[in-house]
Amino acid sequence: MHPVVDLRSDTLTQPTPAMREAMARAEVGDDVWEEDLTVKRLEAMAAERLGKEAGLFVTSGTQGNLLSLCAQTQPGQEVVLDLDSHIFNYEVAGGARLGNVQMRPVKTARGFLTPEQVREALRPANIHLPQTGLVCLENTHNRHGGTCMTPEEMTAVAAVAHEAGVRVHLDGARLFNAAIALKRDPAEFTRPVDSVTFCVSKGLSAPVGSVVCGSKEFIGQVKRFRKMVGGGMRQVGVIAAAGIVALETMVDRLAEDHANARSLAEGIARLPKLSVDLASVQTNIVIFQVERPGGAEALVKGAAARQVKIHAIGPAAIRCVTHKDVDADDITKTLEVFGDITSRW
Ligand SMILES: Cc1ncc(COP(=O)(O)O)c(C=O)c1O
Repeated sequence: MHPVVDLRSDTLTQPTPAMREAMARAEVGDDVWEEDLTVKRLEAMAAERLGKEAGLFVTSGTQGNLLSLCAQTQPGQEVVLDLDSHIFNYEVAGGARLGNVQMRPVKTARGFLTPEQVREALRPANIHLPQTGLVCLENTHNRHGGTCMTPEEMTAVAAVAHEAGVRVHLDGARLFNAAIALKRDPAEFTRPVDSVTFCVSKGLSAPVGSVVCGSKEFIGQVKRFRKMVGGGMRQVGVIAAAGIVALETMVDRLAEDHANARSLAEGIARLPKLSVDLASVQTNIVIFQVERPGGAEALVKGAAARQVKIHAIGPAAIRCVTHKDVDADDITKTLEVFGDITSRW
């Protein structure tokens, strides 16, 4: 049990003692000069795990997605993606501002584009129309509560894009959560796509960073864009070292986070004034509704006063994210606190 239960995000995870140790001992060099062996090791390890030719360490998931978008498209092209996707909603319209692409958001049922939706969204050749440059997928899906797309679903969607000569990028910020939840090899999710970004800084608990993976040619272009946005870093092995520990030691334990999220969701489902779609709780995110005017804010404030931090994502919606700094006792405490607050309403 922790003195404060912080369920606001898995980005709040503290680095493990093994990460701090690895960071202190990391062999480093100037990575812009391609002399940082620790960074190279992380990149090679990530590419190998995801069955891609090459990887590139970047500052964040947002940067990895932006650079991938820039490398996979030409200015003026259109990017097909889900309306609730992170890229469309939470990445400051970087694709529009810096990549000069137009977004084509499509409303989906579960956050996942279907092959039919992609077929409909692809632009036919016509002088009046924008050209479709890229299709983006997100797995797990943040705004839909950490839901997972299966490798088969991804393959079917990617096939439609590829038939039309359009590439596919995966925002796999929490890709390893999907792999653990569905008990599949992470490379099965990346085989159908041309590029992927995943984060070591979320449930995998490293302090900083994401890795972009794809073909050698693509990574060469991503590297140029990374330099352009000032993302070329120097002795950055000090943080890449934690990413290596994350990939080596923090993947399998994501199952614990998923079990804790499930107990939290099941407990919430039993409480008055709170409701949750249990089918959507597949990984480490629990989105639930508060059935009372101003309820989300009241629950956030009430819980904070009892040392439980949660995050409102709407007037009636709360998002809780489990991670390695939250244990089963913390979930019990959270449910007690929620129960106490809602019983007074
Ligand atoms: C699905 C998804 N993609 C991308 C990102 C962006 O990652 P970062 O915060 O490292 O920029 C996030 C962050 O929460 C995310 O949930």
